[in-house]
Amino acid sequence: MATVSVTVDPELDRRVEAIDPTLDLEEEIARLRKEKDAIILAHYYQEDDLQDLADVVGDSLALAQAAKKAASEVIVFAGVHFMAETAKILNPTRKVVVPDLRAGCSLADGCPADRFEAFVKEHPDHTVITYVNSSARVKALSDLICTSSNAREIVASVPADKPILFAPDRFLAKWVMQETGREMAFWPGTCIVHETFSAKAIVELKTEHPGAEVIAHPECDGAVLTLADYIGSTSKLIARTTESDAKTFIVATEPGVIHQMRRVAPGKTFLPVPDQEGCSCNECPYMRLNTLEKLYLCLRDLAPEVTVPEDIRVRALLPVERMLEISAKAKITNYGD
Ligand code: 13P
Ligand code: SF4
Repeated sequence: MATVSVTVDPELDRRVEAIDPTLDLEEEIARLRKEKDAIILAHYYQEDDLQDLADVVGDSLALAQAAKKAASEVIVFAGVHFMAETAKILNPTRKVVVPDLRAGCSLADGCPADRFEAFVKEHPDHTVITYVNSSARVKALSDLICTSSNAREIVASVPADKPILFAPDRFLAKWVMQETGREMAFWPGTCIVHETFSAKAIVELKTEHPGAEVIAHPECDGAVLTLADYIGSTSKLIARTTESDAKTFIVATEPGVIHQMRRVAPGKTFLPVPDQEGCSCNECPYMRLNTLEKLYLCLRDLAPEVTVPEDIRVRALLPVERMLEISAKAKITNYGD
């Protein structure tokens, strides 16, 4: 099982401590957003207050689609680094800033470009499909990008006689193989949050709440997915809570999504799945580095900025654009049209 190591940033801590405690940060953020001509994009795994402040809150596909359309000077990305890089790839003339540059992702960090390049070379005839949870350099080595919203459709778009290499999430790869009936070579990466959900705890929760529906993200281990009544991306899991007649949901993904579930399906009950140590606080340590204070600082100082070298950006853009075209044809447009 992968472990997380987020390096300390004493300089950022010092800047947070130096914020005038009398400031109303929400008011300041609203003011600075106008002054700097910024749009705030937030992922569903962000703290509730950040989700509530955002102009757009969504899954990785919706946020990429929103970033591409953003007309403002600045994109403030409250999410993780690969999401901000994808925004820069799609909309390079905007300044892309993030609250905390250390907000990475175990999937992206576990698939370094040099090792991935060697892996691709070992599979010369394969179509390379890479999950959006990857660095810009890895995207630049890929034929197609996918998110958990469109992974099935992206894989199905590849001619049946063409072998596929999928990276970097092995559990998503296995789920897509089952769903599409396609064999794929895959990189053995995992998400440190989703790999830890306990199948045993789900069985116990189902026993305690017999009418509850188990909903799970496809980054979960196969043992968890076998127990799920419904599997989908964060946006699909949120939508499921209104579409299903169930009154109680056992939620096997990062608990940040429950904020939107409560909003769209008030009166229903949401039970986060504990990890294997029995804790129900299975939050993504990277996503949760972003705070209201750091969002304020990032808008005020327009830093830290996320940049992508132009040669890498141009190469990464192709597979990202292909994904957006296939998604649009399949009517998977999680943000606008
Ligand atoms: P979604 O695309 O479903 O929002 O997933 C992003 C992610 O990082 C899941 O861990
Ligand atoms: Fe990456 Fe997992 Fe965090 Fe999503 S939940 S950003 S896959 S570490």
